[in-house]
Amino acid sequence: MSTKKDTVLVSGGAGYIGTHTTVALAEAGYDVVVIDNFSNSEPSAIEGVEKILGRKICFKQVDTCDKEALRGVFERHDFSTVIHFAAYKAVGESVSEPLKYYQNNLVSYMNVLELMKEYKRPNVLFSSSATVYGNADVLPVTEKTPRQDATSPYGNTKQIAEDILRDCCHAYEGFHGIALRYFNPIGAHPSSLIGELPRGVPNNLVPFITQTAAGIRERLSIFGNDYDTPDGTCLRDYIDVVDLAKAHVAAVDRMTEGKMEAGYEIFNVGTGTPLSVLELVNRFMAANGVNVPYVITDRRDGDVPAVWADTTTANNVLGWKAERDIDDTLRSAWAWEKHVRSL
Ligand code: WQD
Repeated sequence: MSTKKDTVLVSGGAGYIGTHTTVALAEAGYDVVVIDNFSNSEPSAIEGVEKILGRKICFKQVDTCDKEALRGVFERHDFSTVIHFAAYKAVGESVSEPLKYYQNNLVSYMNVLELMKEYKRPNVLFSSSATVYGNADVLPVTEKTPRQDATSPYGNTKQIAEDILRDCCHAYEGFHGIALRYFNPIGAHPSSLIGELPRGVPNNLVPFITQTAAGIRERLSIFGNDYDTPDGTCLRDYIDVVDLAKAHVAAVDRMTEGKMEAGYEIFNVGTGTPLSVLELVNRFMAANGVNVPYVITDRRDGDVPAVWADTTTANNVLGWKAERDIDDTLRSAWAWEKHVRSL
């Protein structure tokens, strides 16, 4: 006999990671309430989730910065857990418009936490980022690697939000928090019904690659090949978005099944394997049989030469491990791009 699982509120659930996580939670047997204000996503993302699941989901268009609207969601739904994705995420834009980032990312987060406290909803899962490690002295980074001063307001909002969560878990009886530090999420669901939908010119590497392969961009710029790395291009830890979604399910299981060892826990969510920009581009071309014209240009301001995860804690404590083969991930990214172009 299976026991009924808790209900989970997913804020920012129409976004790239939110959609994949909603699918993974529903497939794992959780009831899901999804909210999004569509500020950086489209209603079609929710339709994609519903097509994959073969049924409607409980979705409400709500802005998490609107506390009274958010209160209505707390009034109507009896969830124990919130996964808070709703945030702006463009590093460069955060440098030119810091107040926009602090206002949106912190006010929405405070609203969620204050209402969780008021309505006695105990578990919060926060989307953090490997950006908190900055340019680490020792690689790979563990959860105990000291954080560095943030190099962008976006990164700073992640650090501040982690600290707020730590303090709440310390102060409020029964309050539990997990921060997942994502490395570089890439790829799309195998159905090609959901994926990343960047607006305008993509900032991130893989959407730029897929748009170049599709002929929308003339060529990819590889930002620097004079780093102190094996081929001179930056090293990152590219984590498949479906694997990343499953890490959220493992974290929700851990919170709702009372398995946490402390009120606040942090996990790195990566593969543990670094890949260079050049390697990634070459593997994308080989896996998909397509050409991606590129040029080497100057370094991009703020890029760290290398960062990848030590995943020991995620593997052994969270009980989660990245599984999808990188070539499958890169094929899914291309399949998604072709799907988007065919609409
Ligand atoms: C990866 C590598 C670039 C584009 C950022 C955030 C992080 C997370 C993910 C967000 C780097 C190189 C890129 C291009 C290139 N959060 N590159 N040409 O900077 O590692 O991480 O995104 O939502 O918090 O900081 O990811 O995909 O931008 O870059 O050569 O056109 O690809 O220099 O080495 P990054 P990215």
